[in-house]
Amino acid sequence: MKNLEIVQASFKSHFGANGSVYFSPGRINLIGEHTDYNGGFVLPGAVDKGMLAEIKLNGTDKINVYSIDLNESTTFGLNEEDLPAQGWAKYIFGVARELIKRGGKLQGFDTVFTGDVPLGAGMSSSAALESTYAFALNEMLNLGFDKKELVKVGQMTEHNYVGVKCGIMDQFASIFGKAGHLIKLDCSNMEYEYIPFNPKGYKVVLVDSVVKHALVGSPYNERRLSCERVAKAINKNYAEVEFMCQANFDQLNEVKTEVSAEDFKRAEYAVGEAERLRTACAAMTNDDYETVGKMMYGTHWGMSKLYEVSCDELDFLATVAEEAGVTGSRIMGGGFGGCTINVVKEELYDSFVAKVKKEYSAKYGIQPKIYDVVIGDGSRKIC
Ligand code: GLA
Repeated sequence: MKNLEIVQASFKSHFGANGSVYFSPGRINLIGEHTDYNGGFVLPGAVDKGMLAEIKLNGTDKINVYSIDLNESTTFGLNEEDLPAQGWAKYIFGVARELIKRGGKLQGFDTVFTGDVPLGAGMSSSAALESTYAFALNEMLNLGFDKKELVKVGQMTEHNYVGVKCGIMDQFASIFGKAGHLIKLDCSNMEYEYIPFNPKGYKVVLVDSVVKHALVGSPYNERRLSCERVAKAINKNYAEVEFMCQANFDQLNEVKTEVSAEDFKRAEYAVGEAERLRTACAAMTNDDYETVGKMMYGTHWGMSKLYEVSCDELDFLATVAEEAGVTGSRIMGGGFGGCTINVVKEELYDSFVAKVKKEYSAKYGIQPKIYDVVIGDGSRKIC
């Protein structure tokens, strides 16, 4: 593990000692996008790329941290007013604060970290960072939180210290990931099951548009609010509908004149996505990836036309995929840039990759990046 050597050498040179090394992965999501905060299901899996950190308690009330990839250091305390200025350090500070808020007795520590999740690609490098520290500190300080609580620590770090009102998918996938499996997660109650993911005859590949995706300051939070407003309107007549993904199209149509046209479009996407996910899950039990693929294209164009979280580059990638005969292709993650996830027949893989590279770089003057998906395990201690 090349990164392990890098982390250990860096820790030694900064702090002159050895600590414990922890890892948490990024994630993919096969289908079920923007459904998590809408009380629906998602189908993510952890990847083999993630964040790696070496950590040692230092007997003070200060956190000293060095980001290897940014070549920047900072020091901050454990109190609310100690919020660091650097965006990247807020993730670690937020995790510490959220643990403290839950009664965790924290102490200062020295740490360095590095990552190989492509940043801004929609693969949740930030959740990987949060999960790494939440998982490690819980273990090193014997805080006794269960894994679901650690998921919330990461999510609330985003809400309270980063400003993204995200759902629980990313942190859940990072902490609970299992090699070779997707997680079918009911985001309304955090119940989950592992689904073996072995699409025989297909490859799963990400195509990174290299267009930066940054959810901070993006309309992500506005999408959430739109759906909440519509769910509230439906809830007046249907008490069982608390979140948008729990409604059906009839219930949605009943409130059409009560809500704005824009909110209606957002809700239409969310209800449709819940339905597509159900169809895809049923198809997967029969190894019917052609149906899964059709649902994925549905997700893409729903995210593009109704939810409006796509961009030209991602629409182009999905279109080229369809022309190349790819079974399923869609934007992955929050949107506004990042990757498409593609389910491709093995025999079409080479020609698809060649075509997408050639046509994307001809149109946008940049090479897309290609990542083969390997589903790995969740948060863990390395040594
Ligand atoms: C981001 C958020 C997740 C989820 C996805 C969209 O990754 O962090 O909670 O909402 O977008 O599915």
